[in-house]
Amino acid sequence: MTKAPLRGMSVPDFVARYSFGTWRPQKGWKPMHVTKAEGVYFWEASGKRFLDMSAQLMCSNLGHQNEVVVEAICRQARELAFVAPGHATTIRAQLTEKLLDIVPDGLEKFFYATSGTEANECAIKMARLFTGKHKIIARYNGYHGSTATAMSLTGDYRRWFAEPIRSTIDGVLHAPECNPYRPVPFRSASDVIDYYDYMLKNEAHVAAIIVEPVVGTNGVLVPPDDYFPRLRALCDQHGVLLIADEVMSGWGRTGKWFAIQHWGVSPDILVTAKGVTSAMAPLGVVATTRKVADYFEDGWFAHGHTYESHPLTLAPAVAAIDEYRRLNLIARSAQMEPVFAAKLGALKDRHPSVGDVRGKGMFWALELVKDRASKEPFGTFKDKYARKPMVIDQVVAKLAEHGVSMIGWMSHLVLAPPLILTEGQLDDCVAALDEALKITDALAKG
Ligand SMILES: Cc1ncc(COP(=O)(O)O)c(C=O)c1O
Repeated sequence: MTKAPLRGMSVPDFVARYSFGTWRPQKGWKPMHVTKAEGVYFWEASGKRFLDMSAQLMCSNLGHQNEVVVEAICRQARELAFVAPGHATTIRAQLTEKLLDIVPDGLEKFFYATSGTEANECAIKMARLFTGKHKIIARYNGYHGSTATAMSLTGDYRRWFAEPIRSTIDGVLHAPECNPYRPVPFRSASDVIDYYDYMLKNEAHVAAIIVEPVVGTNGVLVPPDDYFPRLRALCDQHGVLLIADEVMSGWGRTGKWFAIQHWGVSPDILVTAKGVTSAMAPLGVVATTRKVADYFEDGWFAHGHTYESHPLTLAPAVAAIDEYRRLNLIARSAQMEPVFAAKLGALKDRHPSVGDVRGKGMFWALELVKDRASKEPFGTFKDKYARKPMVIDQVVAKLAEHGVSMIGWMSHLVLAPPLILTEGQLDDCVAALDEALKITDALAKG
């Protein structure tokens, strides 16, 4: 008797039955069966095409199936697919040389992990070993990943799931970030920095402050220009390391290689992932200053894993950097900023439920509110944690009906398409938004 393929189930049903869907209860998970992706589009098995306005998880920055990156993976697989990370490889030297040219000034030694989460795990370990201190200040709207350390750093509701079972680490304190649209509890960058100063004066044993230079999933929060210069000065004054988590905000997303470069500031440690390979292979990177690196000359670098510096993850990063340059995508992202501002700003004029439009480069959020005066959102972290139905999910579903894929989160939409998106494709997205925002407009105070 021949066995029925996939036990007689469809691909999505089989996948949902026998593998875990992440960050959700398993019941009700109906994953889309994606069979093809190219450029700014991907296709469902039915043949339906989607414009990928969030570059999957804000990571496919070069667009899908970039040929040069695909070829680099194949070439590396044929040449040297794996060797233990204790060895030197040509591809590791090549990537390191390329990174030295683009990371913020002063960063010059790298660790190659396999995700943003793991890279953060490593960064915190480095900061603790280097300083001999254990406390880390993170921020409430930061997301840093899903292992115990990274989840502890995370400020939003995703940390709450780990707390009752004590799978968080000790010593992480959370502080507010700068949110120009919702200046609560602080009105200005100055007030926020004064609060960090207050914390640092009243806490001992603080190793580092970790920030997303432009907060990603939790709302594309762009700080005012004086925030980073002041934060850098404060860290220096208190002898605390500054860690920039550029997992999402790096790789041209905001119009620079790394977002913190907008403010002429260098962190002591930079963490990145996602766009480094345009997500075509799982690579996370930690970059440190020579000063931090030098501690480990005699100090034990108590870290490492089998897949660290994996050649199949490094080769696509080398190719991706070449592609960002060849296609001039970092400058292009900056040039598209006013285009996004104008087209999304016009949406705000047409739709009363759009409370705020903000962004940098090709990284934008539309924050939806029930009432522009009170800025009451359509959903909060508490609603999500309590598993309440979220209005934003209806908006996302309507966009999908119109062939646009976009991430919606609590009460905002994140627009972070591949950096090759054309103005015409942005217009297609805006047309779909005009339809989908009718849902929130109908619930908003006009
Ligand atoms: C800012 C930031 N840090 C860390 C992570 C975790 O990275 P990964 O999902 O590659 O583990 C993410 C993922 O979205 C992120 O946005």
